Amino acid sequence: MAFDATLLCFLPFPSVNHMIIPIAVVPVAGMGTRLLPATKSQPKEMLPVAKKPVVQYVVEELEANGVKQVLFITGKNKSSIENHFDFDHELMRNLREGGKEDLLAELEYERLSVHFFFTRQRRQKGLGDAILCARNFTQNAAFIVALGDSIIGGASAIVSHTAEVFASTGASCVIAVEEVPRESVTSYGVVKPGADLGNGAFVIEDLVEKPSVADAPSNLAIAARYIFGPEIYPALDKTMPGKGGEIQLTDAIRLLLDSGRKIVGVRLAADEKRYDIGNFESYFEAFIEFALKEYPHLYDLFRKQADK
Ligand code: UTP
Repeated sequence: MAFDATLLCFLPFPSVNHMIIPIAVVPVAGMGTRLLPATKSQPKEMLPVAKKPVVQYVVEELEANGVKQVLFITGKNKSSIENHFDFDHELMRNLREGGKEDLLAELEYERLSVHFFFTRQRRQKGLGDAILCARNFTQNAAFIVALGDSIIGGASAIVSHTAEVFASTGASCVIAVEEVPRESVTSYGVVKPGADLGNGAFVIEDLVEKPSVADAPSNLAIAARYIFGPEIYPALDKTMPGKGGEIQLTDAIRLLLDSGRKIVGVRLAADEKRYDIGNFESYFEAFIEFALKEYPHLYDLFRKQADK
């Protein structure tokens, strides 16, 4: 694993005063089968949403929330993610020499003040297994998990908010959640809310991965952002393959609950919205919304098409 051990001295243990968690794990190793053929030879996390690939939104959100180190959990066919965040001096030179200096602004994101690290999940055994690949990197530190195929729209502060709740409640895990239409619960991990802790936070009493509509304990879906303490690793060690034969992160969190650990949920704020780029319908929805923000004049075109 490409891993700079000297950075570990900067990684704090979870403590009541820490509002910023500087390390984030971004799993991007999944096969993206629901987006075939688009994902046959490119990662779904590199699909464009308007002008930028999905994963760039994720990293920009993390940087804006104080993250300093991002560990990508990658896999086969994912090297374009590494290339995207690397400097491309040849491209810069070509733009300058070709009189296209104005386009250099599009590469500004290469200067994000984040250190990138990469490790590979060798077999796609599920999200829980992907998180286990981060163990040597995060060691005893608390860390953020941000799914690489989900954008949180709005100037999202959900990561900072969950980090604050993690510090103030002493929870083993804090999970961002959003309300979804009842019929959509089958696509997500869904939580059962308990006592209200104020400021959008509440105790989670139970959670279940992709329940049927009838079995869903609520319509609060896990929204692709989490904070964990190191106790998630032993729970993942014990987690047996679940839905789809995969090691499910949700099942490991449930083991933490069963062992008496506190798990807390935090609702996305009214101006935050999760865009799931895991299936075509929500991918297209995200693309259209973001494209219209960049090019509002396209709205008339869409209207005309819709009225036809
Ligand atoms: P998903 O379960 O939505 O991704 O995982 P997937 O397995 O690629 O989806 P389908 O069902 O085949 O279409 C959510 C996030 O977790 C990562 C994915 O890359 C995605 O960002 N993931 C998933 C892993 O890193 N490893 C895995 O084994 C599974």
